[in-house]
Amino acid sequence: MSQSITFTIQPGGSLRGEIRVPGDKSMSHRSIMLGSLAEGVTRVTGFLNAEDALATLNAFRAMGVEIEGPENGKVVIHGVGKHGLKKPDKPLNMGNSGTSMRLLSGLLSGQAFDVELTGDKSLESRPMRRVTEPLALMGAEIETQADGTAPLKIKGNRQLKGVHYDMPIASAQVKSCMLLAGMYAEGETSVTEPAPTRDHTERMLNGFSYPVAKDGATATINADGKLTACEIDVPSDISSAAFFLVGASIAPDSDVTIKHVGINPTRTGVIDILRLMGANLELLNERSVGGEPVADIRVQSSQLKGIDIPEELVPLAIDEFPVLFVAAACAEGQTRLTGAKELRVKESDRIQVMADGLNALGVDAQATEDGMIIQQSQIGGGEVYSHDDHRIAMAFSIAGLRANGAITIHDCQNVNTSFPEFRELADQLGLNISS
Ligand code: S3P
Repeated sequence: MSQSITFTIQPGGSLRGEIRVPGDKSMSHRSIMLGSLAEGVTRVTGFLNAEDALATLNAFRAMGVEIEGPENGKVVIHGVGKHGLKKPDKPLNMGNSGTSMRLLSGLLSGQAFDVELTGDKSLESRPMRRVTEPLALMGAEIETQADGTAPLKIKGNRQLKGVHYDMPIASAQVKSCMLLAGMYAEGETSVTEPAPTRDHTERMLNGFSYPVAKDGATATINADGKLTACEIDVPSDISSAAFFLVGASIAPDSDVTIKHVGINPTRTGVIDILRLMGANLELLNERSVGGEPVADIRVQSSQLKGIDIPEELVPLAIDEFPVLFVAAACAEGQTRLTGAKELRVKESDRIQVMADGLNALGVDAQATEDGMIIQQSQIGGGEVYSHDDHRIAMAFSIAGLRANGAITIHDCQNVNTSFPEFRELADQLGLNISS
C-alpha cells in the first residue's frame, strides 16, 4: 500500500475554466481485455493511466501479451488471439479493481490454465458469488473463500456450456463477465438484466467485429466469433467529470467546461439527476467517437433543489452518488435516494461512509438500508475518512466549495485508482487543496 495522503480543503471559492478529465475507466479495462484477445495490433488513445486500469494491463502482460505504453494515453496491444494467453507465473493482483476481478473471472474461466486472482483489502472483502455462481452454471470451477470473497482460484481446461442467466442485480460487471465467458462456451450464452446497465462491453465487442445480439434487456453471444484488432479512442470518464459537474453547480460564480466526455446513455444518470435538481448543464458538440457518444459539458452555478431520485436512474449513476450526496446537502429541502443497496458493496460501504462523513461536517444525512435522506445543511469544517475509497475522497474535496471551515480528508492516496490528476485539475479550476 502506498503512503497515506491527507487532503486539506480550504473552504469556499468558485470553479472556472476548461479541462479534460482522464479516460473512461470501464472502457480502458475493456480495451486491454479485448485488444489482448484480438488478432492484430490494437491502438488505444485516451487510455486511463491509473491504478485500476493498470491492474488489468499488468495482468495481460503477465499472461504473455506484449503491450506498449501507456504513454500520453496511448497504448499499443499486440493481440494474441482468443486462445493465445499463457499461464501467468504467479497470482494476478487486481489491486482495488472490482471490474478487473469480475470481468477476468469470466474470461479466465474459459482458458486452458489455472489462475488465481487476488486484490487489496477492500477488493478481497467484496462479494464475488455474483460472478462465481452464474459461472458455475456454465461449468466453470472457481474456489472462493468461505464467505464468497477473493482470492479466487480459477480452474482451467473446463469446457464451458452456454446458459441463459437472468441477473438478480443490475450489474454491468456480472453481465460482462458472462459475455466474456460466453466467448468460450459451447452454444449460446445469454444474459438478461433487470434494468439497463453500462453497455461498453457489447459496444466494444462490436467494434472488434465480434457478434453480440441485443434484444431488449437480453444480450446473447457464442464462441463462433473472433476479435479483429481496431483503433479505440477512449473518451473522458463521466464518473470523473461528475466531481466538477457537482462542484461547479454548488459553488457560486462557477463556469466550467469539461471536454470530450463520454455520454453513453447507460452512464448519464448523473446529468439527469442534476438536471432534475435544477442544475445548469449544457451538452455541446455532441458527436460519436468509435461507437460511443461524446460531448463537451458546460456547467454553471445554480441553486439546486432537493428531489426524490428516480430509482431507474440508480444503475445509470451508480458511481456518482458520493458526490451527488454533496449536491444534496446544498439543495433546498430534502433529497431522498432509495433502491441503491449496491452502494454498500462498492470500494467502501458508500452509504455508511458518506453518511458518517457528512454528519461529521454537520450535515443532516440519514443512512437507510438502500439509500440516504439528506436535508439541506450548512456544510461545516471538520475531519473525515475516505476509507481508502477514491470517490469518497474526491466527493468530500468538492464539499469544501460550500463549507464554512477547512475539511481534512484522510486516506486520499486511492484517488490514484481512477483519477491521479484530480488534485491538479481541481486546483486549476480553483479548488484549494493542500496535503
Ligand atoms: C463497472 C460497473 C459498475 C461500476 C464500476 C465499473 C464496469 O459496477 O460501479 O465502477 O466497468 O462494468 P457494477 O456492475 O458492480 O454495478
